Amino acid sequence: MRLIVTNIAALVCDLSGKPKLCGGEMSHVDMIDDAYLLVEDGVVASFGNMDELQGDGICADEVVDARGGMVLPSWCDPHTHIVYAGSREGEFVDKIRGLSYAEIARRGGGILNSADLLHTLSEQELYEQSIQRALEIMAKGTGCVEIKSGYGLNTADELKMLRVIRRIKESVPMHVVATFLGAHAVGRGYTKSQYVDMLINEMIPEVGRERLAEYIDVFCDEGFFTPDDTARILEAGAKWGMRPKIHADELAASGGVEVALKHGALSVDHLERITDNEITMLQDADTMPTGLPGTSFFLNMPYAPLRKMIDAGCAVAVASDYNPGSTPSGDMKFVVALACIKMRLLPSEAINAATINAAHAMGCSDNYGSLSPGKRANFFITRPIPSIDFIPYAYTSPIIDRAYVAGKQV
Ligand code: NIG
Ligand code: FE
Repeated sequence: MRLIVTNIAALVCDLSGKPKLCGGEMSHVDMIDDAYLLVEDGVVASFGNMDELQGDGICADEVVDARGGMVLPSWCDPHTHIVYAGSREGEFVDKIRGLSYAEIARRGGGILNSADLLHTLSEQELYEQSIQRALEIMAKGTGCVEIKSGYGLNTADELKMLRVIRRIKESVPMHVVATFLGAHAVGRGYTKSQYVDMLINEMIPEVGRERLAEYIDVFCDEGFFTPDDTARILEAGAKWGMRPKIHADELAASGGVEVALKHGALSVDHLERITDNEITMLQDADTMPTGLPGTSFFLNMPYAPLRKMIDAGCAVAVASDYNPGSTPSGDMKFVVALACIKMRLLPSEAINAATINAAHAMGCSDNYGSLSPGKRANFFITRPIPSIDFIPYAYTSPIIDRAYVAGKQV
Protein backbone atom coordinates (compact mmCIF):
# COMPACT_ATOMS: atom_id res chain seq x y z
CA MET A 1 0.00 0.00 0.00
CA ARG A 2 1.56 3.29 -1.17
CA LEU A 3 0.23 6.61 0.02
CA ILE A 4 1.55 9.95 -1.12
CA VAL A 5 0.92 13.29 0.52
CA THR A 6 1.35 16.16 -1.95
CA ASN A 7 1.29 19.98 -1.82
CA ILE A 8 2.80 20.21 1.67
CA ALA A 9 3.74 23.85 2.31
CA ALA A 10 6.52 22.70 4.66
CA LEU A 11 7.41 19.20 5.81
CA VAL A 12 9.06 18.88 9.23
CA CYS A 13 11.40 15.95 8.59
CA ASP A 14 14.52 14.41 10.10
CA LEU A 15 17.74 14.73 8.12
CA SER A 16 20.08 14.03 11.05
CA GLY A 17 18.85 10.60 12.17
CA LYS A 18 19.81 11.39 15.78
CA PRO A 19 18.03 9.36 18.48
CA LYS A 20 17.67 12.50 20.65
CA LEU A 21 18.63 16.17 20.55
CA CYS A 22 20.66 17.85 23.31
CA GLY A 23 21.04 21.49 24.36
CA GLY A 24 21.63 23.79 21.36
CA GLU A 25 20.63 21.05 18.88
CA MET A 26 17.06 21.33 20.12
CA SER A 27 16.40 24.68 18.43
CA HIS A 28 16.94 23.22 14.96
CA VAL A 29 14.11 21.71 12.91
CA ASP A 30 14.73 20.30 9.42
CA MET A 31 12.13 21.50 6.92
CA ILE A 32 11.48 21.01 3.21
CA ASP A 33 9.25 23.60 1.55
CA ASP A 34 6.69 22.63 -1.12
CA ALA A 35 7.18 18.97 -0.30
CA TYR A 36 5.75 15.50 -0.80
CA LEU A 37 5.84 12.54 1.60
CA LEU A 38 5.71 8.95 0.35
CA VAL A 39 4.53 6.18 2.70
CA GLU A 40 4.76 2.45 1.99
CA ASP A 41 2.96 -0.07 4.20
CA GLY A 42 2.71 2.37 7.08
CA VAL A 43 6.38 3.37 6.97
CA VAL A 44 8.04 6.53 5.62
CA ALA A 45 9.58 5.61 2.23
CA SER A 46 10.85 8.99 1.04
CA PHE A 47 10.19 12.71 0.91
CA GLY A 48 11.43 15.68 -1.05
CA ASN A 49 10.47 18.73 -3.02
CA MET A 50 7.38 18.47 -5.25
CA ASP A 51 9.64 19.19 -8.26
CA GLU A 52 11.50 15.91 -7.59
CA LEU A 53 8.33 13.84 -7.46
CA GLN A 54 8.30 12.45 -11.03
CA GLY A 55 6.94 8.90 -11.25
CA ASP A 56 6.50 8.12 -7.53
CA GLY A 57 3.08 9.72 -7.23
CA ILE A 58 1.66 8.01 -10.25
CA CYS A 59 1.73 4.50 -8.81
CA ALA A 60 0.44 5.41 -5.32
CA ASP A 61 -2.74 3.68 -4.11
CA GLU A 62 -3.86 6.84 -2.34
CA VAL A 63 -3.03 10.48 -2.97
CA VAL A 64 -3.67 12.92 -0.15
CA ASP A 65 -3.59 16.61 -1.04
CA ALA A 66 -2.25 18.57 1.94
CA ARG A 67 -3.77 21.69 0.35
CA GLY A 68 -0.93 23.91 1.51
CA GLY A 69 -0.91 22.71 5.11
CA MET A 70 2.26 21.74 6.95
CA VAL A 71 3.13 18.15 7.90
CA LEU A 72 4.70 17.38 11.28
CA PRO A 73 5.57 14.10 12.99
CA SER A 74 2.84 13.03 15.43
CA TRP A 75 3.26 14.01 19.04
CA CYS A 76 4.81 11.41 21.33
CA ASP A 77 3.47 11.52 24.88
CA PRO A 78 5.91 9.73 27.22
CA HIS A 79 4.03 10.11 30.52
CA THR A 80 0.29 9.50 30.98
CA HIS A 81 -2.13 7.84 33.38
CA ILE A 82 -5.08 7.55 30.95
CA VAL A 83 -6.39 4.29 32.40
CA TYR A 84 -8.52 5.51 35.29
CA ALA A 85 -12.06 5.39 36.59
CA GLY A 86 -14.44 8.33 36.69
CA SER A 87 -13.17 11.83 37.39
CA ARG A 88 -12.16 14.08 40.31
CA GLU A 89 -13.73 17.45 39.64
CA GLY A 90 -14.71 17.67 43.34
CA GLU A 91 -11.00 17.99 44.19
CA PHE A 92 -10.63 20.56 41.42
CA VAL A 93 -13.15 22.71 43.30
CA ASP A 94 -11.38 21.97 46.62
CA LYS A 95 -8.19 23.31 45.04
CA ILE A 96 -9.96 26.47 43.89
CA ARG A 97 -11.14 26.89 47.50
CA GLY A 98 -7.52 26.75 48.66
CA LEU A 99 -6.49 23.14 49.39
CA SER A 100 -3.18 22.03 47.88
CA TYR A 101 -2.62 18.78 45.95
CA ALA A 102 -0.52 17.46 48.87
CA GLU A 103 -3.21 18.38 51.45
CA ILE A 104 -5.89 16.57 49.45
CA ALA A 105 -3.62 13.50 49.31
CA ARG A 106 -2.99 13.68 53.09
CA ARG A 107 -6.76 13.69 53.73
CA GLY A 108 -7.06 10.41 51.83
CA GLY A 109 -8.27 11.94 48.54
CA GLY A 110 -6.23 12.20 45.38
CA ILE A 111 -4.73 8.97 44.06
CA LEU A 112 -6.52 6.91 46.75
CA ASN A 113 -9.83 8.39 45.64
CA SER A 114 -9.17 7.16 42.08
CA ALA A 115 -8.12 3.75 43.44
CA ASP A 116 -11.44 3.41 45.33
CA LEU A 117 -13.35 4.18 42.14
CA LEU A 118 -11.26 1.84 40.00
CA HIS A 119 -11.80 -0.97 42.48
CA THR A 120 -15.57 -0.90 41.73
CA LEU A 121 -15.15 -1.33 37.94
CA SER A 122 -14.76 -4.54 35.97
CA GLU A 123 -11.89 -4.80 33.49
CA GLN A 124 -14.38 -4.30 30.66
CA GLU A 125 -15.85 -1.14 32.23
CA LEU A 126 -12.39 0.27 32.86
CA TYR A 127 -11.42 -0.49 29.25
CA GLU A 128 -14.54 1.25 27.92
CA GLN A 129 -13.74 4.44 29.84
CA SER A 130 -10.03 4.41 29.06
CA ILE A 131 -10.18 3.63 25.33
CA GLN A 132 -12.12 6.89 24.86
CA ARG A 133 -9.11 8.82 26.16
CA ALA A 134 -6.76 6.89 23.87
CA LEU A 135 -8.97 7.74 20.86
CA GLU A 136 -9.23 11.36 22.00
CA ILE A 137 -5.45 11.90 22.11
CA MET A 138 -4.94 10.10 18.78
CA ALA A 139 -7.39 12.50 17.13
CA LYS A 140 -5.38 15.37 18.65
CA GLY A 141 -2.23 14.19 16.87
CA THR A 142 -0.57 11.79 19.33
CA GLY A 143 0.93 8.73 17.63
CA CYS A 144 2.86 7.15 20.46
CA VAL A 145 2.01 7.09 24.17
CA GLU A 146 3.22 5.70 27.49
CA ILE A 147 0.46 4.59 29.88
CA LYS A 148 1.05 3.84 33.57
CA SER A 149 -0.80 1.69 36.06
CA GLY A 150 -0.96 3.03 39.62
CA TYR A 151 -4.62 3.40 40.55
CA GLY A 152 -5.00 -0.27 41.51
CA LEU A 153 -2.76 -0.27 44.59
CA ASN A 154 -3.44 -3.95 45.22
CA THR A 155 -2.25 -6.84 43.10
CA ALA A 156 -5.57 -7.70 41.43
CA ASP A 157 -6.37 -4.10 40.48
CA GLU A 158 -2.86 -3.26 39.28
CA LEU A 159 -3.03 -6.32 37.01
CA LYS A 160 -6.51 -5.23 35.88
CA MET A 161 -5.09 -1.84 34.85
CA LEU A 162 -2.14 -3.37 33.02
CA ARG A 163 -4.43 -5.77 31.14
CA VAL A 164 -6.53 -2.79 30.09
CA ILE A 165 -3.37 -1.07 28.83
CA ARG A 166 -2.57 -4.23 26.85
CA ARG A 167 -6.08 -4.24 25.34
CA ILE A 168 -5.69 -0.58 24.35
CA LYS A 169 -2.35 -1.46 22.75
CA GLU A 170 -4.08 -4.19 20.74
CA SER A 171 -6.99 -2.00 19.67
CA VAL A 172 -5.40 1.26 18.48
CA PRO A 173 -2.81 1.87 15.74
CA MET A 174 -0.99 4.32 18.05
CA HIS A 175 2.16 2.82 19.61
CA VAL A 176 1.59 2.14 23.33
CA VAL A 177 4.20 1.36 25.98
CA ALA A 178 3.19 0.16 29.45
CA THR A 179 4.70 1.17 32.78
CA PHE A 180 4.01 -0.50 36.12
CA LEU A 181 3.45 2.20 38.78
CA GLY A 182 2.34 0.11 41.75
CA ALA A 183 4.36 2.58 43.88
CA HIS A 184 2.07 5.51 43.12
CA ALA A 185 0.73 5.69 46.70
CA VAL A 186 0.42 3.29 49.64
CA GLY A 187 -2.74 1.24 49.10
CA ARG A 188 -5.47 1.43 51.74
CA GLY A 189 -5.09 -1.03 54.61
CA TYR A 190 -1.28 -1.27 54.41
CA THR A 191 1.55 0.43 56.25
CA LYS A 192 4.15 1.73 53.84
CA SER A 193 6.62 -1.03 54.66
CA GLN A 194 3.94 -3.73 54.26
CA TYR A 195 2.95 -2.20 50.93
CA VAL A 196 6.52 -2.00 49.59
CA ASP A 197 7.15 -5.62 50.67
CA MET A 198 3.97 -6.74 48.94
CA LEU A 199 4.85 -4.77 45.82
CA ILE A 200 8.28 -6.40 45.65
CA ASN A 201 7.28 -9.95 46.58
CA GLU A 202 3.90 -10.23 44.91
CA MET A 203 3.07 -7.50 42.40
CA ILE A 204 6.36 -7.27 40.49
CA PRO A 205 6.70 -11.05 39.94
CA GLU A 206 3.07 -11.26 38.71
CA VAL A 207 3.55 -8.32 36.35
CA GLY A 208 6.85 -9.80 35.17
CA ARG A 209 5.43 -13.30 34.59
CA GLU A 210 2.59 -11.94 32.45
CA ARG A 211 4.98 -9.51 30.70
CA LEU A 212 2.50 -6.72 31.28
CA ALA A 213 4.96 -3.80 31.52
CA GLU A 214 8.18 -2.72 29.83
CA TYR A 215 8.95 -0.06 32.44
CA ILE A 216 8.63 0.52 36.15
CA ASP A 217 7.89 3.83 37.90
CA VAL A 218 7.90 5.05 41.51
CA PHE A 219 6.39 8.31 42.84
CA CYS A 220 9.62 9.23 44.65
CA ASP A 221 8.49 12.34 46.49
CA GLU A 222 7.71 13.88 49.86
CA GLY A 223 4.80 12.06 51.52
CA PHE A 224 4.98 9.14 49.04
CA PHE A 225 8.09 6.94 48.52
CA THR A 226 11.69 7.67 49.64
CA PRO A 227 14.86 7.10 47.58
CA ASP A 228 15.49 3.97 49.70
CA ASP A 229 12.02 2.57 48.94
CA THR A 230 12.61 3.49 45.30
CA ALA A 231 15.98 1.70 45.15
CA ARG A 232 14.49 -1.53 46.56
CA ILE A 233 11.58 -1.42 44.13
CA LEU A 234 13.79 -0.70 41.12
CA GLU A 235 16.14 -3.56 42.01
CA ALA A 236 13.17 -5.92 42.11
CA GLY A 237 11.85 -4.58 38.78
CA ALA A 238 15.26 -4.95 37.12
CA LYS A 239 15.14 -8.72 37.79
CA TRP A 240 12.15 -8.83 35.41
CA GLY A 241 13.77 -6.55 32.83
CA MET A 242 11.71 -3.47 33.70
CA ARG A 243 13.69 -0.25 33.21
CA PRO A 244 12.81 2.74 35.43
CA LYS A 245 10.91 5.88 34.46
CA ILE A 246 10.65 7.90 37.68
CA HIS A 247 8.33 10.57 39.14
CA ALA A 248 10.78 12.90 40.94
CA ASP A 249 10.99 16.37 42.50
CA GLU A 250 7.33 17.33 42.03
CA LEU A 251 6.45 18.23 45.63
CA ALA A 252 9.99 18.62 47.03
CA ALA A 253 13.62 17.95 46.03
CA SER A 254 13.13 14.24 46.61
CA GLY A 255 16.46 12.61 45.81
CA GLY A 256 14.63 10.90 42.96
CA VAL A 257 17.02 12.01 40.24
CA GLU A 258 20.05 10.45 41.93
CA VAL A 259 18.36 7.11 42.56
CA ALA A 260 16.95 7.10 39.03
CA LEU A 261 20.38 7.70 37.50
CA LYS A 262 21.92 5.01 39.68
CA HIS A 263 19.40 2.51 38.31
CA GLY A 264 19.78 3.52 34.65
CA ALA A 265 16.38 5.18 34.30
CA LEU A 266 15.11 5.94 30.84
CA SER A 267 13.54 9.17 32.11
CA VAL A 268 13.01 11.33 35.20
CA ASP A 269 9.73 13.17 35.11
CA HIS A 270 8.13 16.24 36.77
CA LEU A 271 11.26 18.03 38.13
CA GLU A 272 9.38 21.14 39.27
CA ARG A 273 11.74 21.37 42.28
CA ILE A 274 14.92 20.05 40.65
CA THR A 275 18.18 21.38 42.17
CA ASP A 276 21.18 22.81 40.28
CA ASN A 277 23.22 19.84 41.41
CA GLU A 278 20.68 17.46 39.85
CA ILE A 279 20.76 19.44 36.60
CA THR A 280 24.52 18.92 36.52
CA MET A 281 24.01 15.18 37.08
CA LEU A 282 21.66 15.05 34.07
CA GLN A 283 23.93 16.93 31.65
CA ASP A 284 25.66 13.91 30.14
CA ALA A 285 23.23 11.22 31.23
CA ASP A 286 21.28 8.95 28.92
CA THR A 287 18.25 9.55 31.18
CA MET A 288 15.74 11.96 29.61
CA PRO A 289 14.48 14.75 31.90
CA THR A 290 10.79 15.15 31.12
CA GLY A 291 8.77 18.23 32.01
CA LEU A 292 5.00 18.17 32.52
CA PRO A 293 3.89 21.77 32.06
CA GLY A 294 0.19 20.88 32.09
CA THR A 295 0.55 19.72 35.69
CA SER A 296 2.12 23.00 36.81
CA PHE A 297 -0.61 24.89 34.95
CA PHE A 298 -3.46 22.88 36.48
CA LEU A 299 -2.03 22.78 40.02
CA ASN A 300 -0.69 26.37 39.98
CA MET A 301 2.77 25.09 40.82
CA PRO A 302 6.26 26.16 39.70
CA TYR A 303 7.29 24.97 36.23
CA ALA A 304 10.31 22.67 35.79
CA PRO A 305 13.28 24.82 34.66
CA LEU A 306 13.60 23.27 31.20
CA ARG A 307 15.08 26.50 29.75
CA LYS A 308 17.93 26.33 32.24
CA MET A 309 18.40 22.64 31.51
CA ILE A 310 18.62 23.13 27.74
CA ASP A 311 21.07 26.00 28.29
CA ALA A 312 23.13 23.60 30.43
CA GLY A 313 23.31 21.22 27.44
CA CYS A 314 20.65 18.72 28.55
CA ALA A 315 18.19 17.01 26.24
CA VAL A 316 14.62 17.51 27.50
CA ALA A 317 11.23 16.03 26.66
CA VAL A 318 7.71 17.13 27.52
CA ALA A 319 4.62 15.02 28.22
CA SER A 320 0.98 15.60 29.13
CA ASP A 321 0.78 13.56 32.39
CA TYR A 322 -2.94 13.11 31.45
CA ASN A 323 -4.57 11.91 34.71
CA PRO A 324 -7.70 12.62 36.75
CA GLY A 325 -6.01 14.59 39.55
CA SER A 326 -3.22 16.84 38.41
CA THR A 327 -3.85 17.23 34.64
CA PRO A 328 -7.08 15.98 33.08
CA SER A 329 -5.85 16.78 29.56
CA GLY A 330 -3.81 14.93 26.96
CA ASP A 331 -3.63 17.79 24.49
CA MET A 332 0.02 17.83 23.40
CA LYS A 333 -0.41 20.97 21.32
CA PHE A 334 -1.36 22.78 24.53
CA VAL A 335 1.61 21.16 26.31
CA VAL A 336 3.88 22.53 23.57
CA ALA A 337 2.29 25.98 23.96
CA LEU A 338 2.81 25.90 27.74
CA ALA A 339 6.43 24.81 27.26
CA CYS A 340 6.92 27.97 25.18
CA ILE A 341 4.80 30.41 27.19
CA LYS A 342 5.64 29.27 30.71
CA MET A 343 9.00 27.53 30.35
CA ARG A 344 10.43 29.84 27.68
CA LEU A 345 11.27 27.13 25.15
CA LEU A 346 11.43 28.25 21.52
CA PRO A 347 8.67 26.66 19.41
CA SER A 348 11.30 24.52 17.64
CA GLU A 349 12.67 23.33 21.01
CA ALA A 350 9.19 22.53 22.31
CA ILE A 351 8.31 20.60 19.15
CA ASN A 352 11.52 18.54 19.41
CA ALA A 353 10.77 17.99 23.12
CA ALA A 354 7.31 16.64 22.21
CA THR A 355 8.46 14.42 19.32
CA ILE A 356 11.96 12.95 18.98
CA ASN A 357 13.06 13.50 22.60
CA ALA A 358 9.67 12.31 23.85
CA ALA A 359 10.06 9.12 21.80
CA HIS A 360 13.52 8.66 23.34
CA ALA A 361 11.94 8.98 26.80
CA MET A 362 9.85 5.90 25.85
CA GLY A 363 12.77 3.97 24.39
CA CYS A 364 11.39 4.03 20.85
CA SER A 365 13.03 6.90 18.96
CA ASP A 366 14.42 4.39 16.44
CA ASN A 367 10.89 3.97 15.07
CA TYR A 368 8.95 7.03 16.25
CA GLY A 369 9.31 10.74 16.96
CA SER A 370 10.42 12.04 13.55
CA LEU A 371 9.75 11.57 9.85
CA SER A 372 12.70 9.71 8.43
CA PRO A 373 12.84 6.83 5.90
CA GLY A 374 12.16 3.52 7.65
CA LYS A 375 10.33 5.08 10.62
CA ARG A 376 6.61 4.65 11.26
CA ALA A 377 4.49 7.09 9.21
CA ASN A 378 2.85 8.89 12.14
CA PHE A 379 2.12 12.48 11.19
CA PHE A 380 -0.49 15.19 11.03
CA ILE A 381 -1.45 17.68 8.36
CA THR A 382 -2.21 21.19 9.57
CA ARG A 383 -4.52 23.79 8.16
CA PRO A 384 -2.52 26.34 6.15
CA ILE A 385 -0.41 28.14 8.80
CA PRO A 386 2.37 30.70 8.33
CA SER A 387 5.12 28.88 10.27
CA ILE A 388 5.74 26.28 12.99
CA ASP A 389 5.89 29.17 15.49
CA PHE A 390 2.17 29.65 14.84
CA ILE A 391 1.41 26.26 16.50
CA PRO A 392 2.12 27.33 20.13
CA TYR A 393 1.22 30.96 19.36
CA ALA A 394 -2.36 30.12 18.33
CA TYR A 395 -2.60 28.07 21.49
CA THR A 396 -6.30 27.22 21.37
CA SER A 397 -6.84 27.21 17.59
CA PRO A 398 -7.46 23.72 16.23
CA ILE A 399 -4.66 23.67 13.66
CA ILE A 400 -4.65 19.90 13.03
CA ASP A 401 -6.65 19.13 9.92
CA ARG A 402 -5.97 15.37 9.55
CA ALA A 403 -3.97 12.96 11.74
CA TYR A 404 -2.34 9.75 10.42
CA VAL A 405 -1.00 6.81 12.40
CA ALA A 406 1.02 4.12 10.60
CA GLY A 407 0.00 5.75 7.32
CA LYS A 408 -3.75 5.60 7.99
CA GLN A 409 -6.02 8.50 8.82
CA VAL A 410 -7.46 8.34 12.34
O1 NIG B 1 2.07 12.57 37.76
N1 NIG B 1 2.27 12.86 40.89
C1 NIG B 1 1.87 11.71 40.83
N2 NIG B 1 1.02 11.17 39.97
C2 NIG B 1 0.26 11.91 39.03
C3 NIG B 1 -1.01 12.43 39.61
C4 NIG B 1 -1.93 11.37 39.97
C5 NIG B 1 -3.27 11.80 40.49
O2 NIG B 1 -3.39 12.84 41.15
O3 NIG B 1 -4.20 11.05 40.24
C6 NIG B 1 1.11 12.97 38.39
O4 NIG B 1 0.86 14.17 38.50
FE1 FE C 1 2.45 11.30 36.46
